[in-house]
Amino acid sequence: MCGIVGYIGSKDAKEVLLHGLEKLEYRGYDSAGIYVIREQNDGHLFKEKGRIAALRDKVDVSVEANAGIGHTRWATHGEPSVRNAHPHQSTSGRYTIVHNGVIENYQEVKDAYLEDVELVSETDTEIIVQLIAWFAENEGLDTLDAFKKTIVTLEGSYAIALIDKEDPDVVYAAKNKSPLLLGKGDGFNVICSDAMAMIKETNQFVELMDKEVAVVTKDSLSIENFSGDIIERNHYIAELDSNDLEKGTYPYYMLKEIDEQPAVMRKLVLKYQDEEGKLSIDPEIVNTMMDSDRIYIIAAGTSYHAGLVGKKLLEEMTNIPTEVHVSSEFGYHTPLLPEKPFFIFISQSGETADSRQVLVKMNELGHPSLTVTNVAGSTLSRESNFTLLLNAGPEIAVASTKAYTAQIAVLAILSEVVGMEKGLIDEPTMIHDLGIVANAMQTLVDEKDVIEELASEYLSITRNAFYIGRGMDYHVALEAALKLKEISYIQTEGFAAGELKHGTIALIEKGTPVIALVTEQAVAGHTRGNLQETRARGAHTMVISMDGLDRPGDHIVIPKVNPLLSALVSVIPTQLLSYYCSLHRGNDVDKPRNLAKSVTVE
Ligand code: F6R
Repeated sequence: MCGIVGYIGSKDAKEVLLHGLEKLEYRGYDSAGIYVIREQNDGHLFKEKGRIAALRDKVDVSVEANAGIGHTRWATHGEPSVRNAHPHQSTSGRYTIVHNGVIENYQEVKDAYLEDVELVSETDTEIIVQLIAWFAENEGLDTLDAFKKTIVTLEGSYAIALIDKEDPDVVYAAKNKSPLLLGKGDGFNVICSDAMAMIKETNQFVELMDKEVAVVTKDSLSIENFSGDIIERNHYIAELDSNDLEKGTYPYYMLKEIDEQPAVMRKLVLKYQDEEGKLSIDPEIVNTMMDSDRIYIIAAGTSYHAGLVGKKLLEEMTNIPTEVHVSSEFGYHTPLLPEKPFFIFISQSGETADSRQVLVKMNELGHPSLTVTNVAGSTLSRESNFTLLLNAGPEIAVASTKAYTAQIAVLAILSEVVGMEKGLIDEPTMIHDLGIVANAMQTLVDEKDVIEELASEYLSITRNAFYIGRGMDYHVALEAALKLKEISYIQTEGFAAGELKHGTIALIEKGTPVIALVTEQAVAGHTRGNLQETRARGAHTMVISMDGLDRPGDHIVIPKVNPLLSALVSVIPTQLLSYYCSLHRGNDVDKPRNLAKSVTVE
């Protein structure tokens, strides 16, 4: 949520910042702004409501500047507006900041220090910049000390970049809970929420840790903690191919990412193979899991849905009881834990604040944890004991597609390796099975015309819709419904097919689309029966079935795969239905309203 960038060097800072913000737009797109400076006391502030493109139109191209900070916003405190857009300035105009996060003691800080200060925005951010000015003016502190004293006073999450217009040769940064990286260049340095923003400038990044402050000039980066101890930290090389960040010939990232799924499956199988061609996972992970008496999968949104499938895989193949929990619920309503729990955090971004608060608590309790993520070096990855990477390449569209299937595939690989180690599986099949899955996915992504037509027929005018299924199909129904509602704005429910008749069937009217997923032999007949019940009440029904379980008249038949992996394939047509439905409705497929890709607030 919200993305921040900073630059100090010799290039046109406006352009570097705008390009960086375009790459961070997935983190929020309610409003955006930049502050740029070259000479002392000659800063320029540009802010606009809406997308970065709108900000770009507003920026005065004649302004010359070689340092600056920028922000793209997902509103928390205060509606999306120019007034609430970042950067925010102190009343004197001396200090300018951008901030990602939420200040929890906003009111207390305001009451204690800023009663006489007239705030111009409704944001929690403004109190940060006003407090820096307050400490500088009332306690005579220099900028670094005023900044440090301010952040020690704050409670909550923040990634902040600060410029003092009296000293335009320095950009300051600090972080707590929200992600922030420092990028190193030759004669320039950068600050960013995500390496993607600045990969065009540099691939050398240094992580800023919680409760650290950075002082950045064009030739130096120095990090210290709140006590003033200087921290030496090596940089790492971000392995991001800037081509992966482009859409190429695709109209939207979502379609590109849907199409990439067969390749992601193949890549994953290769990544997790050892020299002998066998699937292999860090033995420490395997041993710690084998030693545990219960696995807890913690995740949010689509990742939670991948976790539901993961539970089935883990229990079937490892025989270790597994629970799946929504992270925002688990942290504050933790169930009774067994003696040796093992935690698996699933997160595409590795930054989801709801999941992180659970990890922090479980770390305090000393429970071992594994993060399954797409982003190496992300907060969840750093703070858990182990990491397994998705290797899916950057996922830019807000609606997650390839990360969901990669998460399931990684859990399948992990389950088989643990199952083998426990002696529960005689012959490994996962490499072969995932190969079949990749081929099946390819068949479906090649059938876009059929799916586009179905999207037009079923979903073009409706206000609500249902996906139904049982077992694995129910888990996919939940994900399919989330995907449809978040980008088409059609109110969609994913429902356990058998449960519909216990109340929710009252919502079925003439023409209500009900899409049944039928990939599991044992319950196929039951689900079809439940679909008939909705049809009898006027529903416009569609069936997505698996080869071998199909019946004449089924609308989409997915190729046959290992039933444990059916979710990987049955989800593909549902992703495409959502995509085409959103496209036909004229929505911004990649940036649906009210959402952001990386949810770093609780
Ligand atoms: C939906 C979607 C979200 C995320 C959720 C968790 O398409 O992408 O529901 O799955 O916000 O995000 P991560 O996986 O980054 O923790």
